[in-house]
Amino acid sequence: MTRRFLFVLGSSRSDGNTELLARRAAEPLPADVEQRWISLAEHPLPDFADLRHDSDHVRPTEGPAAVLLDATLAATDLVIVSPLYWYSVSAQTKRYLDHWSGWLRTPGVDFKATMAGRTLWGVAALAAEEQVVADPLIGTLHNSAAYLGMRFGGVLLGRGSKPGDVLADADALARATTFFAPDAPHARFLADAA
Ligand SMILES: Cc1cc2nc3c(=O)[nH]c(=O)nc-3n(C[C@H](O)[C@H](O)[C@H](O)COP(=O)(O)O)c2cc1C
Repeated sequence: MTRRFLFVLGSSRSDGNTELLARRAAEPLPADVEQRWISLAEHPLPDFADLRHDSDHVRPTEGPAAVLLDATLAATDLVIVSPLYWYSVSAQTKRYLDHWSGWLRTPGVDFKATMAGRTLWGVAALAAEEQVVADPLIGTLHNSAAYLGMRFGGVLLGRGSKPGDVLADADALARATTFFAPDAPHARFLADAA
C-alpha cells in the first residue's frame, strides 16, 4: 500500500523548531510517499465537548474538524509535530487528541478499526538539555497509539528555544535522516508487555 504521511503541526508559532525538524525528517521520504502538512493554528479546532454519554457525536462535514478527521482517516502514518509545552504536548495538539474521543463515538466513522495497524510518530522540540523531561509527551503518544492498536515509531526530539535553534542540534539532525526508515512495532501498554 502506498504510504500517506499526515504531519499535524501543533506549535503556536509558524516555522518553529518542531516543524523545521519534522521537515528534515521528511526529506528522505521516497517521492511516491504522499505528504500532507496541516497546521492546527491554521485549522483551529473548537474546545472538545464530551457528548459521549449524552448523544451521538455527529460527523463534522465542514470546518477544521472535518478537514482533520478526513485527513487522519486517510493517513497510513500520522506524525504528531508538537513542541514540548509544560512537559507534554501543546494545547492545540491535546485538543486534536481529545477530538479522537468524539471520533471514536461517531457513527459511520469506525475510527478505532481504521486507525488500528497504522503508525503514530512524534517530533518534538524542547528547550531543556535533558531529554528525559519529554517522557510525559512520549508516554502520551505511545499510550494513545496502544489504545488504538496502532504501531508506534517513537519520538524524534530536538533542542531549541528560539526558532532555528534546532538546526544547531547536530545529533537531532542526524537522527532525522533515518527517523522514518524502520518499520515501527505495535504499541503495547507496559502492563501488556510482561
Ligand atoms: C507554553 C510553553 C511551554 C514550554 N514548556 C517547556 C517545557 O516544559 N520544557 C522545555 O524544555 N521547553 C519548554 N518550552 C520551550 C519550547 O519547547 C521550545 O521553545 C521549542 O523550541 C518550541 O518549539 P517551536 O519552535 O516548534 O514552537 C515551552 C515553551 C512554551 C511557549
